[in-house]
Amino acid sequence: MNSATLGYLRRRLGETVHIRSAAHCPCLLWLIALAIACIPLLARSQDVFPDSPARDTVAVICSQCHPLTRILDSKLSATQWEALLYDMISRGATIYDRELTLVRDYLVENFAADER
Ligand code: HEC
Repeated sequence: MNSATLGYLRRRLGETVHIRSAAHCPCLLWLIALAIACIPLLARSQDVFPDSPARDTVAVICSQCHPLTRILDSKLSATQWEALLYDMISRGATIYDRELTLVRDYLVENFAADER
């Protein structure tokens, strides 16, 4: 068998394996369906996290342990947001000094509820 034949066979085999696995794996279809279902969700989370230089910083730091929706689900006042940042640090979040003000201001500006 020369190398051209071998290459042909490999490609054929690759194709069949590919087609087979797609057809025989309903979970793949589920994954695709799930991905499509997530599109509006992603669009939504982009809307609710207003654009700002701080947004990416918040997204990177705060999505490491839990989804960013945690932020949306919390009704915290300005003081509580600040305290929460220290709470997250005590749980292991790495927030550098220079990011702390940025992140706090972003959260307070966009997500703070009235002081109780
Ligand atoms: C090192 C991991 C870690 C990082 C990074 C992190 N958190 Fe958390 N966060 C936790 C844990 C652990 C909890 C509490 C357990 C739970 O409910 O999952 C929590 C809970 C929360 C809650 C709910 C608090 C409550 O009392 O209901 C909010 C809001 C929150 N985090 C916001 C943030 C924000 C904002 C950031 C970014 C500045 C952040 N987290 C980064 C680990 C982390």
